Amino acid sequence: MAEAAPARPRVWVSQPLFDDIVARLDEYFDIDANRSVADHAPDAIAAALRDVDGALVTLNDPVGAAEIARATRLRAIANVGVGYNNLDVPALARAGIVATNTPDVLTETTADFGFALMMAAARRITEAEHWLRAGHWQGWAFRNMLGQDIHGATLGILGMGRIGQGIARRAIGFGMRTLYHNRSRLPDAVERECRARYVDADTLLAQSDHLLLVLPYAPENHHLIDAAALARMKPSATLTNIARGGLIDEAALAEALHAGRLAAAGLDVFEGEPRVDPRLLALPNVVLTPHIASGSLATRRAMVALAVDNLIAALGYGPDAGRPRNPIPVKPTLS
Ligand code: 8YV
Repeated sequence: MAEAAPARPRVWVSQPLFDDIVARLDEYFDIDANRSVADHAPDAIAAALRDVDGALVTLNDPVGAAEIARATRLRAIANVGVGYNNLDVPALARAGIVATNTPDVLTETTADFGFALMMAAARRITEAEHWLRAGHWQGWAFRNMLGQDIHGATLGILGMGRIGQGIARRAIGFGMRTLYHNRSRLPDAVERECRARYVDADTLLAQSDHLLLVLPYAPENHHLIDAAALARMKPSATLTNIARGGLIDEAALAEALHAGRLAAAGLDVFEGEPRVDPRLLALPNVVLTPHIASGSLATRRAMVALAVDNLIAALGYGPDAGRPRNPIPVKPTLS
């Protein structure tokens, strides 16, 4: 009697990604693919993970001790994204599950967007467009929609990892003076290349004309930008966040923008996304985008390709079997 073929490993793909790229998993695994975008509840994630060996997830899918409690086969989780605050990495490591992310491939695209969002906020681009579309433009007026300059201004970067450095490099072309604060100071050569000067957090807040948040979110920096931090900023300054919403106390930000204690903000991420605080929605001086900083077609495809490679390798298949390119360190580094 012929022996039954050994069962193939199973993987869960939590969100619709790019079918042609995800199909590469077919060579090694059976695939459970979720066909619609979903904000999965913890129970749904636990159920999906229960009988699989690996999973491809995004920031919509929080995975921690509770979600993996009954996932006895699970050995790898590949996150499609560089930020991984949706994963409890220590809990996964304790269960012997390798977690991976997708750094590098999104650096330049995300830096482009951070710069664009900062410029849109400073020069009131979306506010002016809404105003025009609403039919308010009755005659050209010299003092209409006056904004803040980018060139010659002081750029502050909080979180000087790969994306922060990409933004600093762009600022050179705009003749900006760049200050940064980071958990650790960068080597001299990198500071020189980025033409960026290390300062303490208070100096960064006080001196920045345009402050960009590009640091990873962790519970320790929850609401790092609170009312006290905002009060240290110049009233003419702008604040742009392309990292994670939880870094900002949104109620305090809305209040500062409303009261004219901050000129404008550009927000691509929100604490309770996709819900956006109605106070922010009501303000004209904030540019709001739906978490799209890495969203060029080429980059999103590159992120999925890298996550697929990571998953294949982490599960012990393919040319890099057992050596995924981007394992997440169990002690996350803040850069
Ligand atoms: C991703 C992001 O699109 O990479 C990140 O950390 O925030 C975005 O670029 C998102 O994480 C998809 O899961």
